[in-house]
Amino acid sequence: MTAVVQTDRLTKRYGGARGIEDLSMTVRPGEIFGFLGPNGAGKTTTIRTLLDLLHPTSGSARLFGLDSHRDSRAIRARLGNLPGDFSYEPRVTGRAALEHVAALRGVRDLRRADALAERFRADLSRRIGDLSRGNRQKVGLIQALFHEPELLILDEPTGGLDPLMQEEFLAVIGEERDRGATVLLSSHDLDEVQRACDRVAMVRDGRLIAVEDVAAMRARAHREVSVRFAGPVAAAELAALPGVTDLRTTADTVHFHVSGPIDPVIKAIARHEVGDLEVTRPTLEELFLSYYRAGTA
Ligand SMILES: Nc1ncnc2c1ncn2[C@@H]1O[C@H](COP(=O)(O)OP(=O)(O)O)[C@@H](O)[C@H]1O
Ligand SMILES: [Mg+2]
Repeated sequence: MTAVVQTDRLTKRYGGARGIEDLSMTVRPGEIFGFLGPNGAGKTTTIRTLLDLLHPTSGSARLFGLDSHRDSRAIRARLGNLPGDFSYEPRVTGRAALEHVAALRGVRDLRRADALAERFRADLSRRIGDLSRGNRQKVGLIQALFHEPELLILDEPTGGLDPLMQEEFLAVIGEERDRGATVLLSSHDLDEVQRACDRVAMVRDGRLIAVEDVAAMRARAHREVSVRFAGPVAAAELAALPGVTDLRTTADTVHFHVSGPIDPVIKAIARHEVGDLEVTRPTLEELFLSYYRAGTA
């Protein structure tokens, strides 16, 4: 299966300054791939290099197996792109902008654009220059999506969208994946990435520090357990169980982590009178942050 996006030690420096360094990654067909990192990490630089808007200092990128620079015209015809700073001639209406983009792409049917406008509650009759950032962003999303491209490259697509529209957007890209599209989106919002993406690449200081399968990461995560005992506190007994770590006691409550099977813990707890029990998993945010911290150490 050909990777939809493949970068090989992709490097972009701005003069002497770091943009991205030695970034190698693969986006597979039909996945929603998140590109996660704080501001300045190199997300936009990577995306602009993929789109041939920046020339790599070294390394290379392939999209659909084609060279990002040499074959950029052929690539462009197959993708939808939302730049991080989407803007358009401010005097034209959203509708005129979409008609123009459609003409460039040789697309005549704007019904899908209208359907998306309805879902995003975008007012296409207003001039782009009169729109708020969020409403301009909606026009940007529609132009990226309406021609049903094979690949969507979206740079911080939900920036400026209100929570309701953010939900709608996540639903739409899920549907895009279901029709077979591949999605590469960047974000600095961990929550968004965890809900939207199949796999996530974490970038920091221009470098790729991890690529993770979101479901696997969640499954592998330890659980956090708190037990309040109605009678004697069975701390030592729990501490001795396999997979139990980080145990601490506060008054009548024991807090600890469990990795692996939870059954022995449940059985041990059940031998005592339990006042309350809470079992949670760390959020992906906490897991990601542990990566970043590990990277710093
Ligand atoms: N045009 C530019 N000239 C010089 N440095 C730049 C330019 N664009 C980005 N950078 C630098 O490259 C690094 C990565 O930036 P960027 O790709 O925009 O990050 P992100 O999109 O993750 O916020 C930052 O250190 C930024 O200051
Ligand atoms: Mg950016």
